[in-house]
Amino acid sequence: MNPPRLSRRNYLGLMGAAAAVPAAALPGDSDRERRMKWWHEARFGMFIHWGIYSVRGRAEWAMESEGIPTREYEQLARQFRPKPHAARAWAKLARQAGMKYMVMTSKHHDGFCLFNTSTTNYCAPKQAAGRDLVSEFLEAAHAEGLRAGLYYSLMDWHHPDGAICRNNEDARKRFVQYIHTHVREICSNYGKLDILWYDFDWPLDAKGWDSVGLNEMMFKLQPDIIVNNRNGLPGDFTTPEQHITAFKRPWEACMTLNDSWGFQSADDNWKTPKSVLRNLIKCSRDGGNYLLNIGPTGDGSIPEPSIAILTETGRWLARNGESIYKAARCEFMGSAYSYCTRKDNTLYVHIYFWPGETASITGLKTRVKSARLLVSGKPVEFRQDLLRVHLLNLPKEALDTPITTLALECDGVPEQYPEPVRVLRKRYGVNIS
Ligand code: GLC
Repeated sequence: MNPPRLSRRNYLGLMGAAAAVPAAALPGDSDRERRMKWWHEARFGMFIHWGIYSVRGRAEWAMESEGIPTREYEQLARQFRPKPHAARAWAKLARQAGMKYMVMTSKHHDGFCLFNTSTTNYCAPKQAAGRDLVSEFLEAAHAEGLRAGLYYSLMDWHHPDGAICRNNEDARKRFVQYIHTHVREICSNYGKLDILWYDFDWPLDAKGWDSVGLNEMMFKLQPDIIVNNRNGLPGDFTTPEQHITAFKRPWEACMTLNDSWGFQSADDNWKTPKSVLRNLIKCSRDGGNYLLNIGPTGDGSIPEPSIAILTETGRWLARNGESIYKAARCEFMGSAYSYCTRKDNTLYVHIYFWPGETASITGLKTRVKSARLLVSGKPVEFRQDLLRVHLLNLPKEALDTPITTLALECDGVPEQYPEPVRVLRKRYGVNIS
């Protein structure tokens, strides 16, 4: 029997309220800091949505949003024949783009497994692909020196119990065992795994999925792994989707490069390298990570625009990376044309709309000792009074593209006055005119 069909909006309304923090200690709580260290320093990762939906080129929700019957949809598994080791090109691009980790869909909502599993024939090694695509992916990421993790959707449109398990205890037991077996296989069969990235806990809650048991098993098999918050538990980090919102706990903003996760051949709404970099800078400023998606085609090729955007992003990071990686949360926000990041006592001013010969930031409490252009190391003239750091004699045209970064060496951790400038002027008696 096919699961009843719901619209995407219905699902979102039904998703388990994002992980209220239970009082009792949860698996992974005791050594979170140790496990998360590399991830905090990494800042930038590649998300990969890939599956039999990629053959069709109408994104990963097609089975649901186009109402495709299961038997018809399954035919795609006979056409999904990726070229050998397609993941090598993704991993190479990720490294060149300055990304430090990769996360690939091992099973999306359509239920098709890219890994070998004892539970079903609906998996890449037993269908036309004829190979274990998870193993190829992990191998490729590691060969480029990148960390690697797997996305795994709990919701499953293909499994006969996937929807009815909410009101049928026998179905729930069968389905939860199916899910737990997958997680066991993923965590047992591929060596070291860095991230487990759950998605979509519809239609059960943490209790129904036995998410505590699931995470316990995962940590037993992979003691260094980190896990997100989408199985009804808080996990190690929170996952704002398609927007950048800072949380008080570790967070990672995941985003598409156009408007689609899975390959959508007609989607031409690409972000520019500048908007990608502005997002990355914002994440870094606010202490979060940026997980940016590619949607390869059915044969595993990366869409040309993705290659171009990420290549330019990587070139900029090669010149400006010191302002992003290992950066700490920055209190000082920036201006109307700049964002700031910081590492130790250095404030990096990222100017994305070049103002010309002078630029200013205001409200910096800390004294600036020296200023330089990050790209050339050339000193920049500046004057600092109580409220303004005035950068002077800058070139007319931006010196770096698409964003120019100035590094301001301060005599302490850069801090911002909490009050608005005009209040400060009054308080300190600095002339307004
Ligand atoms: C949502 C979507 C899914 C995508 C994911 C990425 O849950 O349903 O298609 O994989 O977000 O965060």
